[in-house]
Amino acid sequence: MRRRLSLVVPLFVCVTSVLAASPDIDPRVPALLARLTLEEKVGQLVQLSSRADMTGPVEKSSLTPQLQAGGVGSMLNVSGAAETRRWQQAAVASSRHGIPLLFALDVIHGYRTIFPIPLAAAASWDLACIEESERIAAAEAAAAGLHWTFAPMIDIARDARWGRIAEGAGEDPFLGAAVARARVRGLQGDGRYTAPDRLLACAKHFAAYGAAQAGRDYFTTDVTERVLREVYLPPFRAALDAGVATFMSGFNDLDGTPCSASGFLLTDILRREWDFGGFVVSDWASIREMIQHGSAGDLRAAAQQAMLAGLDMDMEGGAYAAHLAELVRSGAVPEARLDAAVSAVLSAKFRLGLFDDPYRFNDEARESATLLHPDHLAAARDLARRSCVLLKNTGVLPLAPETRTVALVGPLADAPLHQLGAWRARGRPEDTVTIRTALAEIFPGERLRYAPGCAVRGEDTTGFAAARAAAEAADVVLVALGEDADQSGESTSRTSLDLSGPQVALLRELRAAGKPIVLLLLTGRPLLLEEIESLVDAVLVAWHPGTMGGPAVADLLTGAANPSGRLPVSWPRRVGQLPLFYAHKNTGRPAPLDAGDRYYTRYLDAPNAPHFPFGFGLSYTTFAYDELRLASPTLRADGPPLTVRVRVRNTGSRAGEEVVQLYVRDRVGSVTRPVRELKGFAKIALAPGEARTVEFQITPADLAFWRADRTWGPEPGQFDVFVGPDATAELSASFRLE
Ligand code: BGC
Repeated sequence: MRRRLSLVVPLFVCVTSVLAASPDIDPRVPALLARLTLEEKVGQLVQLSSRADMTGPVEKSSLTPQLQAGGVGSMLNVSGAAETRRWQQAAVASSRHGIPLLFALDVIHGYRTIFPIPLAAAASWDLACIEESERIAAAEAAAAGLHWTFAPMIDIARDARWGRIAEGAGEDPFLGAAVARARVRGLQGDGRYTAPDRLLACAKHFAAYGAAQAGRDYFTTDVTERVLREVYLPPFRAALDAGVATFMSGFNDLDGTPCSASGFLLTDILRREWDFGGFVVSDWASIREMIQHGSAGDLRAAAQQAMLAGLDMDMEGGAYAAHLAELVRSGAVPEARLDAAVSAVLSAKFRLGLFDDPYRFNDEARESATLLHPDHLAAARDLARRSCVLLKNTGVLPLAPETRTVALVGPLADAPLHQLGAWRARGRPEDTVTIRTALAEIFPGERLRYAPGCAVRGEDTTGFAAARAAAEAADVVLVALGEDADQSGESTSRTSLDLSGPQVALLRELRAAGKPIVLLLLTGRPLLLEEIESLVDAVLVAWHPGTMGGPAVADLLTGAANPSGRLPVSWPRRVGQLPLFYAHKNTGRPAPLDAGDRYYTRYLDAPNAPHFPFGFGLSYTTFAYDELRLASPTLRADGPPLTVRVRVRNTGSRAGEEVVQLYVRDRVGSVTRPVRELKGFAKIALAPGEARTVEFQITPADLAFWRADRTWGPEPGQFDVFVGPDATAELSASFRLE
C-alpha cells in the first residue's frame, strides 16, 4: 500500500496523472471516477453512523435519501450479516452507480469473542498470540458483514491518568511498533484485502494523541518534532510497513494545529516521506471540531483545511457532505485532490471484491459458524493467561493442592460485563466466563464461598460482613478489585489512581480475618498499590481479560499455567510521578554530587523510580542471566549486525516463560539521549533447570534517532547494552559504532 509521491510537488496538481499509474489505485477506478458527478464523488468520502449506535432501534429512513443519492461511502456502527445486507441493498440497488458501502466498526480486542484489552495483550509480549487474536477478530467481524475496523490503536501512552492507555500497547515505541505490526498482519493478512475473512485495518490516532496534557482526554498535545518522531511515530511507521490500509487522524491539536488539518502529518510525513497510498479517515466529527479548536471559523473552512491537509474521509463531521462540492466548484480545493481521495476509497472497495459481489461478507450461515467458535474461545483463554502479570507473591500462589475452601470476594469476581473492558464490539456479558464461574468448577459447592463485599463505586459497605465471614471460613481469600469497564477507555481520565469506592476498606476488613489474601486486579490501567501492597500476599494483574478471563485466571491461580506477562508500562507509586517512563533523559543532575546535596532531580516525598519497572513480572519459577557476550567490540555503520548473546537459565522447579529484554544506551549524542531504550526482546519457554542462549542482532538502524541536524540516523560512539528481565536490567556490556 505504498506509492512514490516524491515527484509530486505540489501534491495535488499532478495527482490525476499519478492515479492511473499508481500501484495503489485499482485499474478499474479511473473509468468509474469519470462517470461520477462532483456530489457522487463527495459521497464516497462521507461516513455516517447508522444512527442506531450501540443500543437503539435502527431508523433507516433518515439515511435512505442520502444513500439513494450516492451520498454515503461508508457506515460505522452497523454490524451483523443480515443487518449490513439490508443497508448494502439500500445503497447498491437504489443509487445511480450502485457503489457498495464500506462497513466499519471499532473491533479493538475482538468482535464477539472478546480478547484481553490491548494493554493486557501487550503485556503478553507474545506477538504470535496477538496476531492470532486479530486474525480471529477479523474472521468474526468479516463474517458479520464488516469490512473495516478502526484498529489497531497504537498511541504511545506514558500517563496512566489517560484512560485510553487501556487501548494501546503502553509506553514504549519499540514494543509498540512490534505490536502494531502483529496487529495489522493479523487483521489484514497479506495486505491484498482479497480474503473474505480479513478486514481493512486503521492505524490510529495519528498522531501523538496519547500525549494529552495532564492525562486529560482530548486535551492539547505539544511535543517537539524529536519526541514525535522518536516516541509517537514509530508504531505508525511499523503499521505502514505492515501494509495498513487506512489511518485515522487524532482529535488532538498538535503544536497548534488539529491533527485533522495537519498537512505536516497527513501530507508531508504520511504521503511524501512514507509514501502511504491508502486513505485517511477523520476521528468522529474531528473536522467539525476544528471550529471549537478555534482553527477554523466555520464548517466550510474546516472542510477546506482538512481536505487540503490530506484528510480523505469525514466521519460524522457533516463537513464534506455540506461543503466539499462547492469548495471544488469554486476552486478552493483542487478537483485532483478530491479525485485522489475518492480513488483511494474506491480502490479499497474494488480490492475487497465488493464490486464483484457486494454481499460477499453477508453470509449468515458463515456468521453463526464463526462467532464464538471453540477455537476462538481457546485462543482468548490462552492470550488472557499470557497477559496477566504477577507483581507480588509471598508463596501463596499457586494455590496449594490441599486447599479445601476458597473465599472469592470483590465486585469484579463475577462481573461478566466489566471483565470485557472498554470497546467490547459485539461482545456480550452472557458469553463471558467469569472468575466465579471458572473457580466454581474447581472448588465445587461449599468449597467456594462467594461474597462480592461491595461495588466498584459508591459508598455502600453493607456487604462487608458477609465478605469477612466468607474469608474467615476459607483457607485463602481471592479478592477481585479494580476498575469497571467504564473507568478506562475513551473519556475516562482520572486524577486519582486509587481503587475507587469502598474497595480499599474492603481489603482492610478482609485482612482482619487473618487469612492469606490474593489480590486479582482487573483494570484498564495501572492503579496505585503502594498503600495496599502490605495488606495482601499476592497481586495478579488480570487487566480486563475478556470473554475467557475467568478460566485464564483460574489456570494461573491453580498453577495449571505459570504467569508470564510483563508490564508494558512503568507502574507508578504516586499520581504525582506522571508522566512516567523508563526511557527518560539523564538530566544534568541525575544524582547528588556530594553527600547532603539537595539540588538534583528528585521529589521530596517519593522516589523517582516506579513502583514496578517497565518489563517487570514474576513467575512461579525463577530465571538467572549470565554469559552476556558481544560478538565484537565494534559495529560498523556499513557492516553486518552485531550479535549479542546471553544465557538464561530456569533456576526453579517449574516450567516457565521468560521475556528476555535487551536495552541500549547511547552514551553521547549530538542531542541528549534516553538512559536506555528497548531494542530487542524474546519470550522463551524453559523447563526446570534448562538453560538457553538467546541471540539478538543490533543493526546501526536500531540506533537511529532524530539528530541535531534534523535527520534520522545513528551517530558513531560508545553504546552500553543491558540484558535482563526488565528495564532495570544490570548485566551489561558495551560496543562502539564506527
Ligand atoms: C474514537 C475512535 C473511534 C471512533 C469511532 C471516536 O470517539 O476516538 O477511536 O474509532 O470514535 O467509534
